[in-house]
Amino acid sequence: MNISSLDWAALDRIRDAFLARDARRGAYWDSTSDLACYDATFGERIGWKWDAVLRELKLRRWVPPPGPVLDFGCGSGIAGRRVVAAFGAERFTSLTLHDRSPLAEDFAAARAGELFPGLPCIRAGGVVDDMAPVGTLVVSHVLNELPEAGRRALRSVAARAEAIVWVEPGTHADSRALLAFREGLRGSFSVVAPCTHGGACGMASPGNERHWCHHFAEPPPSLYADSDWTRFAQRAGIDLRSLPYSFLVMAKDPAASGPIADAAGAARIIGRADHMKGFAEALVCDDSGLRELMLQKRDVPEAFKSLRDEVETPLFRLRAEGSKVRQADRWPEGR
Ligand SMILES: C[S@@+](CC[C@H](N)C(=O)[O-])C[C@H]1O[C@@H](n2cnc3c(N)ncnc32)[C@H](O)[C@@H]1O
Repeated sequence: MNISSLDWAALDRIRDAFLARDARRGAYWDSTSDLACYDATFGERIGWKWDAVLRELKLRRWVPPPGPVLDFGCGSGIAGRRVVAAFGAERFTSLTLHDRSPLAEDFAAARAGELFPGLPCIRAGGVVDDMAPVGTLVVSHVLNELPEAGRRALRSVAARAEAIVWVEPGTHADSRALLAFREGLRGSFSVVAPCTHGGACGMASPGNERHWCHHFAEPPPSLYADSDWTRFAQRAGIDLRSLPYSFLVMAKDPAASGPIADAAGAARIIGRADHMKGFAEALVCDDSGLRELMLQKRDVPEAFKSLRDEVETPLFRLRAEGSKVRQADRWPEGR
């Protein structure tokens, strides 16, 4: 990213459209330069969330099925490129870039074509072909721009996919909207992540409305030594270290490409644990639902330390007595 080449008027306009949540009104990409500036900055920041998701999927040993990839609402195409790069272009037969903006599809297809010269990178022309297989559906930061009719259309595309890899901002509204997709698709898909179980979402239980499933990604370490990024963050008024996200990965046949890590007994800590002197409190999700649990330093020192020090909260196999965690082993191993 070269800060001196950024078009700040365009970035301000795009960001204002996102923040004002008036992005539903229509296409806001006015030029290829808009997309290039977004791709190098806000788009790259979204890419760091994708990196966290893809790291977790690798630890869980989940791999998308071979075949096509469709990036729905691709914008500059950061999500589709991250997915293809993570699993290898040779795994896929094509990457289709779909957006209501033809400029975005052109930009995303051109960038992907440069990166993956052997992979057909196709512009969808704003429509998802009813006859073509969807394969792996990639969705990133699109939901809050879709009115109900758009969500319905996306739901029917999702239903035809073999696998879905979806990342949204870590807000209450976006996470809850993703939850609705999870519950709607659960009959025909298995849940791969973020959950450690395939049952009903604990967030959907009465009394849990105030909670939302969200996580934090760690930006690349090189960020802190990069003066362009520091100046970008100051000018844009954002904290680059805070990368909250929600995500959902589902598959018709999750083990199609080999066995995935056995999640039995594993639990996910939602958001961040609250640290007090000698103990931490965490909202924990597993196949029994959502629970507030306490992790005491003297009982589970390693888990206590990793919850305090690591940006990307690990998953654990937990054993609790009442509300106190007595044992916490990292899961999957290697995380
Ligand atoms: C916030 S941008 C995110 C772009 C990209 N997915 C990313 O993560 O960087 C949302 C994108 O969704 C597109 N979009 C919004 N509504 C859409 C619709 N109904 N059909 C297709 N694309 C849509 C916008 O044009 C825009 O490119």
